[in-house]
Amino acid sequence: MRHWPLWLRYLNKRVVQVQERFFRNQRVIGLPFYLTLESGNSCNLRCPLCPTTFRGDSLPRGMLTLENARTIIDRFPALLAVNFSLWGEPFLNKEIFDIVRYARSKKIRACIQSNFSLPKFDEAMAQRILDSDLSELSLSIDGASQETYEVYRRRGDFARVLRNIELLRRLQKDQGRRNPKITWKMVVNKFNEHEIATARAAADCVRLEFLVVEIYTPEHLKGAWKPALDVEQAGVPTHTDATPQCYHLWQVMTVNFNGDVFPCCSEWSPKDALGNVLREPVSAIWNHAEYRWRRGNNKSGPPRCDDCHIDKDTRYWQDWHTANGEKKNPTMLPLTLVAADRKERSHV
Ligand SMILES: C[S@@+](CC[C@H](N)C(=O)[O-])C[C@H]1O[C@@H](n2cnc3c(N)ncnc32)[C@H](O)[C@@H]1O
Ligand code: SF4
Repeated sequence: MRHWPLWLRYLNKRVVQVQERFFRNQRVIGLPFYLTLESGNSCNLRCPLCPTTFRGDSLPRGMLTLENARTIIDRFPALLAVNFSLWGEPFLNKEIFDIVRYARSKKIRACIQSNFSLPKFDEAMAQRILDSDLSELSLSIDGASQETYEVYRRRGDFARVLRNIELLRRLQKDQGRRNPKITWKMVVNKFNEHEIATARAAADCVRLEFLVVEIYTPEHLKGAWKPALDVEQAGVPTHTDATPQCYHLWQVMTVNFNGDVFPCCSEWSPKDALGNVLREPVSAIWNHAEYRWRRGNNKSGPPRCDDCHIDKDTRYWQDWHTANGEKKNPTMLPLTLVAADRKERSHV
């Protein structure tokens, strides 16, 4: 299927956004304009609260192939942006540069989130990033020293991350390339919160955007991880998932490396898959009964799916308990009321 001309894709986006914001209708007129497409679910690090670390073999492991990426991208004619990060480290996929290049050739913004603690990163790889015309690169660097960084980024090498950034930035500057826009994203926890200012200064030094996000933690581990600081009030640019209502079910489709579709990044069990975009048309999955039921369930108020990570007492966190040999939390807390911050609600 050919991608629609850009004016039609933007029109689709507006039509879908109006429905999401005002009508909350179960059947969406229009198609998803943002895609989260997993490039692979293996990782070189072992961040303790990341499902890639704790879910073990509960999901098949694998990499997105160029062939499947092309097929999947082609099935979303209204696509404006794709994020190739879901679970795992995107740069472990050897075909990622060709996959990005393919998306860019269809006038789709391409984003990657990476730990960038890549031992084999060299000039050739940096050049391949530039040549792929990647639009955005978000680097997860949770601290300003090895000691604080590795508390969460287990197996990560802070000095190596900085070396890799310097190499990429030097090439980018020498060649006068605007893409990718690179961001230092710091997931703030109680071990690194005192280093926010230092990390920000380091990001400034290498001319990177700087962004913080408070760590998501299971309720019972808040004491172990949650920063004392109110990150939203810290006076630094903040990414927040705080939203008065779910937008994913209207705007975004989340697809695993093998084509399985999920309502968002909070669900990953194969039994929760809503279909498979390698086997079925997107339009059929997008408005089928399960999707419509979820939209109905999220018609108003804060997100209400069982597994939503915005609601901290969900199966996402209960899976964490189970995977770590702990008992499931028997008390169901009421849905967390989240701030009415709409700034971050639209992806594109
Ligand atoms: C699961 S990671 C996958 C991409 C890549 N491996 C990375 O770490 O950047 C996707 C995003 O989740 C963020 N992340 C990981 N653990 C988190 C946590 N406990 N709380 C908030 N964000 C987290 C990462 O910083 C990254 O931006
Ligand atoms: S680096 Fe990313 S994918 Fe890997 S374990 Fe950490 S958060 Fe998860």
